[in-house]
Amino acid sequence: MTHSISLKLKAPAKVNLALEVLGRRSDGYHEVRTVLQAIGLADELRMERAEAISLEVVPSGAVSAEANLVLAAAALLREEAGLQAGARIRLHKRIPVSAGLGGGSSDAAATLLGLRRLWGLDLTEARLLGLAARLGSDVPFFIRGGAALGSGRGEELTALPTPKGLWAVVLAPADAAGEGKTARLYGLLTPDHHSAAGARSEELVRRVRSGEPLAGALFNVFDGVGDSAYPRLAPARDAFRAAGAGEAHLAGAGPSLFALARGGTEARRLRDRLIEQGYTAHAAPFLQAWGLEGASPSEAAFR
Ligand code: C5P
Repeated sequence: MTHSISLKLKAPAKVNLALEVLGRRSDGYHEVRTVLQAIGLADELRMERAEAISLEVVPSGAVSAEANLVLAAAALLREEAGLQAGARIRLHKRIPVSAGLGGGSSDAAATLLGLRRLWGLDLTEARLLGLAARLGSDVPFFIRGGAALGSGRGEELTALPTPKGLWAVVLAPADAAGEGKTARLYGLLTPDHHSAAGARSEELVRRVRSGEPLAGALFNVFDGVGDSAYPRLAPARDAFRAAGAGEAHLAGAGPSLFALARGGTEARRLRDRLIEQGYTAHAAPFLQAWGLEGASPSEAAFR
C-alpha cells in the first residue's frame, strides 16, 4: 500500500435508472429496488495528513449536509481504525447539492476511500461497505460505483455491467430542497405507489445485462409525487421535452431531472438546449466501477 502524504480523488454523482419502493419497513425506512449508475459529474476531494480532522468546502455556502457527512465519515473511519490520525480535507463541490444526485453520499464514500489510503489502513472492501452503510443508504454504492442493483434500504448491492455509450443529461431546477428532503419525499408516498415485486427494476436489470436499449424501461416512483413537492419541476420537464429529450425522470428523490443520450455529441446538444432556456444543465457519461483506490481524478470522462 502506498503511504502518500497528499492525494486527490473524484466523488462522482449518480442517477437512478430504476427506483421502486416495495413498502414501509418496521425500522422506518422503505424497502427499495433501485438500479444506480455513476456518472462523470463529480466533486473533487484533496486530502493531506494533519494533526486533526478539518474540512474546507469550495465554494463555501449552503453545503452543510455534505460537509457533515464528510466529517462523519472521517470520524467513523478514525474510530474504527483506533487511530489518532488527522487530515486536512478540501472539498470542491460541482454536483448540485440536495438534488437527488448522491453528491453528499459520494463525498462520504470518497472520504472513506481516500483516508484509507492516506492513513495506510488495511481495511477490506466489505468493512468499508459496512462503515458506508452506517453513514447513509446511498453511501455503499459509491465505494465501487459503476452500475448496481440496490435492495434493502438501497445498501445491499449487486454489481451490474455499465451500459455502453450512454450519457446522462442532468438538469438541476432552482427549487431549494434543503435538509430532510429525502425523508419528506418518502413521506409523500402512499401504498398506491408501492410495487409489490420490483418488476420494473428486474426488467431494467435484464436489459442492462443483455445490452438491450433502456428507453421506455426507466422508472422512478418519486416522479409520481415530485410535482406536489417541487413547484418548478413541471416547467423543467417541459424544457426537457422542448429540448428534444424522449423521457426525463427525477434523479433519486429529486429535484434534479435527467434524460439519457447516446454519446457525447447528442448529450452536449441536449445540455446546450437546456442552457439556452436558462437552466443549469450537465452532460456526463456513464462511468465504470472503480476500485479501492477511488475514482481517479485524471479520467477524461469526468466533467
Ligand atoms: O439513509 P439516509 O440517511 O440517506 O436516508 C434519509 C432518509 O430517507 C431516512 O431517514 C428515511 O426517512 C428515508 N429513507 C427511507 N427508505 C430508504 C432510504 C431512505 O425511508 N430506503
